[in-house]
Amino acid sequence: HKDLLDVTQLTRAELFHLLDTAAQFHDINRRPVKKVPTLKGKSVVLFFAEPSTRTKTSFDVAGKRLSADTFSLAKSGSSLSKGESLKDTALTLQAMTPDIIVIRHSSSGAAQFLAERLDCSVVNAGDGWHAHPTQALLDCYSLRQVWGDTFEGRTLLILGDIAHSRVARSNVHLLSSLGVKVRLCAPRTLLPAGVHNWPVTIFNRLDDAVQDADAVMCLRLQLERQQAGLLPDLREYAQRFCLSPRHLAMAAPGARVLHPGPMNRGLEISSVLADSPESLILDQVAAGVATRMAILFLLATRTGIEQTADNGGRA
Ligand code: CP
Repeated sequence: HKDLLDVTQLTRAELFHLLDTAAQFHDINRRPVKKVPTLKGKSVVLFFAEPSTRTKTSFDVAGKRLSADTFSLAKSGSSLSKGESLKDTALTLQAMTPDIIVIRHSSSGAAQFLAERLDCSVVNAGDGWHAHPTQALLDCYSLRQVWGDTFEGRTLLILGDIAHSRVARSNVHLLSSLGVKVRLCAPRTLLPAGVHNWPVTIFNRLDDAVQDADAVMCLRLQLERQQAGLLPDLREYAQRFCLSPRHLAMAAPGARVLHPGPMNRGLEISSVLADSPESLILDQVAAGVATRMAILFLLATRTGIEQTADNGGRA
């Protein structure tokens, strides 16, 4: 593949090749490796037209650890804020001959739009409500560190604002394709249209949803994307959908908690649980660097994410 636009483009073999490559960028203490010269002379543009802490910084760190040159462009401070079109901005960037453009944009399909028009590789760092493939890949990597290669038959509960979540969409696709039984729990107004066609089981009560789950992924209530009049009462929301130690006690023994961040502590996840030994939240951040190093490496060297090495897509 020239680009990474969505997890749907990856075969099982490609996925495990990418996860295995990411593991090579983690040392035995699960810390990302220090700087290596692998991508010296390559350049990566970080084009973030929406705010980001984790994704942007981890792509920047990942690029620098591989010795690539990284350049940042944000909406504010760029000519996008003067009305320049996405296409013109992208063609301008391409004229500077980067090897990879990493893009986050509020419009679903923005990454694909660029990929179809540019010669360089394009990585989707989140497009509207549509997809956040690198987040799902790092979540999969984090779960693999706990579960090993036995995804089949595990139960993952995704809890919270599913309607506005590109993280939920990418994770549902990726993890259900590995045989994970995915449950969703949300108020009816925060479930997307068409969710009944997704490969998931839907719950309205958290006490029911969390029973025997192997992992719970809490999602941020995306206050900035709520439609007028549909914003839930926050106190009631927290009472019904905030994951607490009482809930986790009903999950499977050893169950872990994930959150892609940023968190609203006390609204979708209790602070004590976010900081507990069961939390994988900071492991996800570390996994994000290793996973994004693998993505940049495979695209920039055109080794190709599709090259399946010798693992034959195990697991
Ligand atoms: N998980 C995630 O995408 O976080 P940022 O918005 O901080 O990049």
